Amino acid sequence: MVVLISGTGSNMAALLDAAKDPAYGAGIVAVGADREGTRGIALAREAGVPVFTVPFRDYTDRARWNADLAERIGEHAPDLVVSAGFMRILGPEVVGRYTAVNIHPALLPSFPGAHAVRDALAHGVRVTGTTIHFLDEGVDSGPIIDQVAVPVEDDDDESSLHERIKAVERRMLVDTVGRLSREGWTIDGRKVRFGRADR
Ligand code: GRF
Repeated sequence: MVVLISGTGSNMAALLDAAKDPAYGAGIVAVGADREGTRGIALAREAGVPVFTVPFRDYTDRARWNADLAERIGEHAPDLVVSAGFMRILGPEVVGRYTAVNIHPALLPSFPGAHAVRDALAHGVRVTGTTIHFLDEGVDSGPIIDQVAVPVEDDDDESSLHERIKAVERRMLVDTVGRLSREGWTIDGRKVRFGRADR
Protein backbone atom coordinates (compact mmCIF):
# COMPACT_ATOMS: atom_id res chain seq x y z
CA MET A 1 0.00 0.00 0.00
CA VAL A 2 0.90 3.66 -0.33
CA VAL A 3 -0.10 5.60 2.80
CA LEU A 4 -0.95 9.31 2.41
CA ILE A 5 -0.38 11.54 5.43
CA SER A 6 -0.36 15.22 6.40
CA GLY A 7 0.67 15.28 10.05
CA THR A 8 1.91 13.14 12.91
CA GLY A 9 1.40 9.85 11.10
CA SER A 10 0.53 7.70 14.12
CA ASN A 11 -1.90 5.63 12.05
CA MET A 12 0.79 5.13 9.41
CA ALA A 13 3.23 4.09 12.16
CA ALA A 14 0.73 1.50 13.42
CA LEU A 15 0.56 0.01 9.91
CA LEU A 16 4.37 -0.04 9.73
CA ASP A 17 4.49 -1.94 13.02
CA ALA A 18 1.85 -4.44 11.95
CA ALA A 19 3.62 -5.09 8.66
CA LYS A 20 6.73 -6.28 10.50
CA ASP A 21 4.86 -9.56 10.92
CA PRO A 22 5.04 -11.42 7.58
CA ALA A 23 1.67 -13.03 8.36
CA TYR A 24 0.03 -9.59 8.29
CA GLY A 25 -0.38 -9.77 4.52
CA ALA A 26 0.23 -6.11 3.63
CA GLY A 27 3.18 -3.76 3.59
CA ILE A 28 3.88 -0.07 2.97
CA VAL A 29 5.74 0.50 -0.32
CA ALA A 30 5.81 4.29 0.13
CA VAL A 31 4.44 7.19 2.15
CA GLY A 32 3.12 10.26 0.33
CA ALA A 33 2.54 13.68 1.85
CA ASP A 34 1.00 17.00 0.81
CA ARG A 35 3.58 19.03 2.77
CA GLU A 36 7.18 18.81 3.93
CA GLY A 37 8.62 18.66 7.40
CA THR A 38 6.04 16.70 9.39
CA ARG A 39 6.57 14.18 12.15
CA GLY A 40 4.98 11.48 10.01
CA ILE A 41 7.54 12.00 7.24
CA ALA A 42 10.39 11.76 9.77
CA LEU A 43 8.92 8.52 11.17
CA ALA A 44 8.63 6.97 7.71
CA ARG A 45 12.20 7.95 6.80
CA GLU A 46 13.53 6.53 10.07
CA ALA A 47 11.80 3.26 9.19
CA GLY A 48 13.49 3.26 5.78
CA VAL A 49 10.24 3.68 3.83
CA PRO A 50 10.40 5.68 0.57
CA VAL A 51 8.75 9.07 1.02
CA PHE A 52 7.46 11.45 -1.64
CA THR A 53 5.82 14.83 -1.22
CA VAL A 54 3.54 16.67 -3.61
CA PRO A 55 3.18 20.01 -1.78
CA PHE A 56 -0.33 21.32 -2.28
CA ARG A 57 0.79 24.91 -1.68
CA ASP A 58 3.01 24.78 -4.78
CA TYR A 59 -0.05 24.40 -7.04
CA THR A 60 -2.77 26.75 -8.18
CA ASP A 61 -4.60 24.03 -10.09
CA ARG A 62 -6.16 21.28 -7.94
CA ALA A 63 -6.56 18.89 -10.90
CA ARG A 64 -2.85 19.27 -11.71
CA TRP A 65 -1.94 18.52 -8.10
CA ASN A 66 -4.18 15.43 -8.12
CA ALA A 67 -2.67 14.28 -11.42
CA ASP A 68 0.88 14.68 -10.10
CA LEU A 69 -0.05 12.89 -6.88
CA ALA A 70 -1.56 10.02 -8.89
CA GLU A 71 1.66 9.76 -10.93
CA ARG A 72 3.88 9.69 -7.85
CA ILE A 73 1.66 7.04 -6.25
CA GLY A 74 1.85 5.04 -9.48
CA GLU A 75 5.64 4.88 -9.31
CA HIS A 76 5.18 2.48 -6.39
CA ALA A 77 2.41 0.43 -8.06
CA PRO A 78 0.35 -0.09 -4.89
CA ASP A 79 -2.62 -2.42 -4.64
CA LEU A 80 -4.24 -0.10 -2.12
CA VAL A 81 -3.97 3.59 -1.18
CA VAL A 82 -4.63 4.42 2.47
CA SER A 83 -5.47 8.01 3.36
CA ALA A 84 -4.55 8.14 7.06
CA GLY A 85 -4.73 11.71 8.28
CA PHE A 86 -4.35 13.15 4.79
CA MET A 87 -6.04 16.53 5.01
CA ARG A 88 -6.89 16.99 1.31
CA ILE A 89 -9.83 15.92 -0.77
CA LEU A 90 -8.65 13.48 -3.41
CA GLY A 91 -9.97 13.99 -6.93
CA PRO A 92 -10.94 11.54 -9.67
CA GLU A 93 -7.33 11.49 -10.88
CA VAL A 94 -6.50 9.50 -7.73
CA VAL A 95 -9.71 7.76 -6.62
CA GLY A 96 -10.58 6.78 -10.20
CA ARG A 97 -7.24 5.06 -10.59
CA TYR A 98 -6.66 3.34 -7.25
CA THR A 99 -8.69 1.49 -4.69
CA ALA A 100 -8.39 3.81 -1.72
CA VAL A 101 -9.62 3.85 1.87
CA ASN A 102 -9.84 6.74 4.31
CA ILE A 103 -9.99 6.88 8.09
CA HIS A 104 -12.18 9.56 9.64
CA PRO A 105 -12.50 10.50 13.34
CA ALA A 106 -16.31 10.37 13.61
CA LEU A 107 -19.18 7.98 12.97
CA LEU A 108 -20.01 8.91 9.39
CA PRO A 109 -22.30 10.13 7.95
CA SER A 110 -22.26 12.34 11.07
CA PHE A 111 -19.59 15.03 11.18
CA PRO A 112 -17.76 14.82 7.85
CA GLY A 113 -15.05 17.37 7.09
CA ALA A 114 -11.82 18.59 8.62
CA HIS A 115 -13.12 19.33 12.15
CA ALA A 116 -15.02 16.16 12.96
CA VAL A 117 -13.98 15.92 16.62
CA ARG A 118 -14.66 19.61 17.32
CA ASP A 119 -18.02 19.40 15.54
CA ALA A 120 -19.08 16.30 17.48
CA LEU A 121 -18.21 17.99 20.80
CA ALA A 122 -20.01 21.19 19.81
CA HIS A 123 -23.11 19.18 18.95
CA GLY A 124 -23.08 17.57 22.40
CA VAL A 125 -23.14 13.95 21.25
CA ARG A 126 -22.46 11.40 23.99
CA VAL A 127 -20.95 8.88 21.62
CA THR A 128 -18.75 9.49 18.60
CA GLY A 129 -16.06 7.27 17.09
CA THR A 130 -14.21 6.47 13.93
CA THR A 131 -15.00 5.18 10.45
CA ILE A 132 -12.96 3.50 7.75
CA HIS A 133 -14.49 3.73 4.31
CA PHE A 134 -13.66 3.39 0.64
CA LEU A 135 -12.95 6.73 -0.98
CA ASP A 136 -15.05 8.18 -3.72
CA GLU A 137 -15.00 11.73 -5.03
CA GLY A 138 -17.10 13.15 -2.19
CA VAL A 139 -16.01 14.49 1.19
CA ASP A 140 -15.78 11.57 3.63
CA SER A 141 -18.34 9.65 1.59
CA GLY A 142 -17.95 6.23 -0.02
CA PRO A 143 -18.95 2.79 1.25
CA ILE A 144 -18.31 2.23 4.95
CA ILE A 145 -16.11 -0.75 5.82
CA ASP A 146 -16.03 -0.55 9.60
CA GLN A 147 -16.84 1.76 12.52
CA VAL A 148 -16.01 1.76 16.22
CA ALA A 149 -17.84 3.92 18.78
CA VAL A 150 -16.00 6.02 21.39
CA PRO A 151 -17.94 7.53 24.35
CA VAL A 152 -17.54 11.25 25.03
CA GLU A 153 -16.49 11.95 28.64
CA ASP A 154 -17.87 14.96 30.56
CA ASP A 155 -14.47 16.63 30.82
CA ASP A 156 -13.34 15.95 27.24
CA ASP A 157 -11.87 18.69 25.12
CA GLU A 158 -11.05 18.32 21.44
CA SER A 159 -7.56 17.07 22.13
CA SER A 160 -8.41 14.46 24.81
CA LEU A 161 -11.29 13.09 22.75
CA HIS A 162 -9.24 12.99 19.55
CA GLU A 163 -6.40 11.11 21.28
CA ARG A 164 -8.85 8.44 22.54
CA ILE A 165 -10.37 8.17 19.06
CA LYS A 166 -6.91 7.83 17.52
CA ALA A 167 -6.02 4.93 19.83
CA VAL A 168 -9.13 3.14 18.56
CA GLU A 169 -8.46 4.16 14.95
CA ARG A 170 -5.01 2.62 14.93
CA ARG A 171 -6.37 -0.79 15.94
CA MET A 172 -9.27 -0.59 13.51
CA LEU A 173 -7.07 0.52 10.61
CA VAL A 174 -4.55 -2.26 11.19
CA ASP A 175 -7.34 -4.88 11.47
CA THR A 176 -9.23 -3.64 8.43
CA VAL A 177 -6.26 -3.25 6.09
CA GLY A 178 -5.00 -6.70 7.09
CA ARG A 179 -8.43 -8.20 6.43
CA LEU A 180 -8.79 -6.37 3.10
CA SER A 181 -5.42 -7.56 1.89
CA ARG A 182 -6.01 -11.15 2.92
CA GLU A 183 -9.67 -11.53 2.00
CA GLY A 184 -10.66 -8.68 -0.33
CA TRP A 185 -14.04 -7.02 0.08
CA THR A 186 -17.51 -7.36 -1.38
CA ILE A 187 -19.94 -4.47 -1.82
CA ASP A 188 -23.48 -5.22 -3.00
CA GLY A 189 -22.35 -8.65 -4.13
CA ARG A 190 -19.51 -7.16 -6.18
CA LYS A 191 -15.94 -8.03 -5.29
CA VAL A 192 -13.81 -4.91 -4.84
CA ARG A 193 -10.69 -5.19 -6.97
CA PHE A 194 -7.31 -4.28 -5.65
CA GLY A 195 -4.61 -2.85 -7.80
CA ARG A 196 -4.65 -0.30 -10.56
CA ALA A 197 -7.61 -0.39 -12.87
CA ASP A 198 -5.26 -0.78 -15.83
CA ARG A 199 -3.39 -3.75 -14.42
C1 GRF B 1 -6.80 10.78 12.53
O1 GRF B 1 -7.68 11.05 13.60
C2 GRF B 1 -7.55 10.61 11.24
O2 GRF B 1 -8.77 9.99 11.37
C3 GRF B 1 -7.75 12.05 10.83
O3 GRF B 1 -6.51 12.67 11.14
C4 GRF B 1 -5.91 11.99 12.25
C5 GRF B 1 -4.53 11.59 11.83
O4 GRF B 1 -3.72 11.21 12.89
N1 GRF B 1 -8.16 12.16 9.45
P1 GRF B 1 -2.26 10.64 12.63
O5 GRF B 1 -1.54 11.61 11.70
O6 GRF B 1 -2.39 9.28 12.02
O7 GRF B 1 -1.60 10.60 13.98
